[in-house]
Amino acid sequence: MPKTFFVTTAIDYTNSPPHIGHAYEKVLADVIARYHRLNGDKVFFLTGVDQHGQKVQQSAAKAGVPPAEFVKEITQKFVDLWKKLDVKYDEWAETTSERHKKVVQGILQRLFDAGQIYKDKQAGYYSIRQEQFLTEKERGAEGEFGPEWGQVEFREEENYYFKLGDHKKWLLDYLQKRTDAVIPDFRQTELRNAVEKLSGDLCISRPKSRLDWGIELPFDKNFVNYVWFDALTNYISFASYDSAIHEYERQPQEFRDKWPALQIIGKDILVPAHGIYWLIMLHAIGFPDKAMPQLLVHGWWNLGGAKMSKSAGNVIDPFALIEKYGADPVRLYLTGAIGTGWDADFSEERFLTYYNSALANGLGNLVSRTLNMIHRYLSGRLKKTHEQPGTDATSSSLSYIERWLAGQTCLYSEDFDGGEHRTQDGKLFPLPKFQIHHAIGLILDAIAMCDRAVEESSPWKLAKNPSKGEELARVLYVLTEAIRIIAIWVSPIMPKSAHAIFDQLNWKMEPELNGKEERFSLADAEWGELPDGHVVGKPVPLFPRIESRGGV
Ligand code: MSP
Repeated sequence: MPKTFFVTTAIDYTNSPPHIGHAYEKVLADVIARYHRLNGDKVFFLTGVDQHGQKVQQSAAKAGVPPAEFVKEITQKFVDLWKKLDVKYDEWAETTSERHKKVVQGILQRLFDAGQIYKDKQAGYYSIRQEQFLTEKERGAEGEFGPEWGQVEFREEENYYFKLGDHKKWLLDYLQKRTDAVIPDFRQTELRNAVEKLSGDLCISRPKSRLDWGIELPFDKNFVNYVWFDALTNYISFASYDSAIHEYERQPQEFRDKWPALQIIGKDILVPAHGIYWLIMLHAIGFPDKAMPQLLVHGWWNLGGAKMSKSAGNVIDPFALIEKYGADPVRLYLTGAIGTGWDADFSEERFLTYYNSALANGLGNLVSRTLNMIHRYLSGRLKKTHEQPGTDATSSSLSYIERWLAGQTCLYSEDFDGGEHRTQDGKLFPLPKFQIHHAIGLILDAIAMCDRAVEESSPWKLAKNPSKGEELARVLYVLTEAIRIIAIWVSPIMPKSAHAIFDQLNWKMEPELNGKEERFSLADAEWGELPDGHVVGKPVPLFPRIESRGGV
């Protein structure tokens, strides 16, 4: 049975509507998923929403609606956004669903039966306003709790605990053995340091008197689960995991074909949630080391150097941004102007500059000027002057493009997700994993190289000289091939634009391919597919130049 490439993202809290930080994570996952499909791999892409918990209960109370109604409304905003952004997932995870609840309760019962979950009493200072126990960290210099905690009282509360500490040694050994458990490397180091300091167990419940918006503990109906067993389990409950089957090897085939996943999460939820709780939970329910997920940890889009948050009032509304500029440019910018793993600062001004240079003056202009020249000088009909790409082109950039089209230099290598790429002069250089901005940078280089080839060969001059007909045809054929291949390469990042370019090239126009991802394949990104005599379509502006205007 062929393995499916399984990619998941963090599920988003439904306590407030999505902002562009959420959008970035989903687009990053979508680009990776689309790239794999382009490469002919079978893909399962899971994402969804985290609907339980204290914050949601509080936000719903503030809005004066029942939590179920509140989450329904916010969930719809996420669904609408993913649709607008062309984020194409295969399964949608909502943690209030019965399917999910059954798996969470099954796992909790199993761990309880195995003595991994126990009841204990916690005593300490409790903030009534924030509804949480306070620790020494929250005390000021004089030993006082600040006014942000409101009334603080001493309380005793019984809760259930998961024996996290039992698995500390296992986790350290696992991280020692598997050097790419977490990407990038520095995040794995951060995790290892945190595990070394790990002490104590994990409280996994809240009494219903305090929180009732959650999944009830199967062994004590006075408590709900809080919260990580609920949230994290989505990665398996929506991938056909059966909690009644203890041995990993006996899990249903639908699950075994998908798992383990590449999990895409933000830097804030590596430690402790995914890096410690999740890996230990999986280990405790019998997942072998080889079935541990790989964690791809991305950085954050900030605003004016500060964290984006609804409470701070500094969020960028992704709907407004897409409305103004279109989904594709937003997808390109969010993944192209940040290094995977690092933070970046969002500004609409910089977005516009990027848009104008990469798209309006870059890709869009290349497509329209090339098609215009084919219509003007060749009545729209391409001439394939040579079967094999040559090295005898008169312009050095044209000759470079030909060699590149022939695969001697390669922008998207098969290990786009890791491994190597080549620089313009054909030298190899290592590409840290999932550095999509590098791949995008190389595509932009290719566009610039095509522009240079146009300037160097000056088709408008060749057209005036009847003896240069062959050379003119060659330049225009090579440019059109380059555009066709660039469209394939950008299709995971800008799917709609890739279709629009194919339409204008009048290429792969079969109705069954219309708007479908199958229209593009990495195998087609090779020299010479456009036949002699191919008639191209008329250019239609793809990315009109936008002058700076007011912010979103
Ligand atoms: N519900 C939890 C995750 C549970 S996973 C089992 C959660 N939700 S969240 O809505 O706060 O964040 C969802 C994802 O969006 C996280 O991976 C988080 O890092 C990411 N981002 C939130 N703000 C972000 C930016 N400003 N920039 C990039 N990603 C951001 O955490």
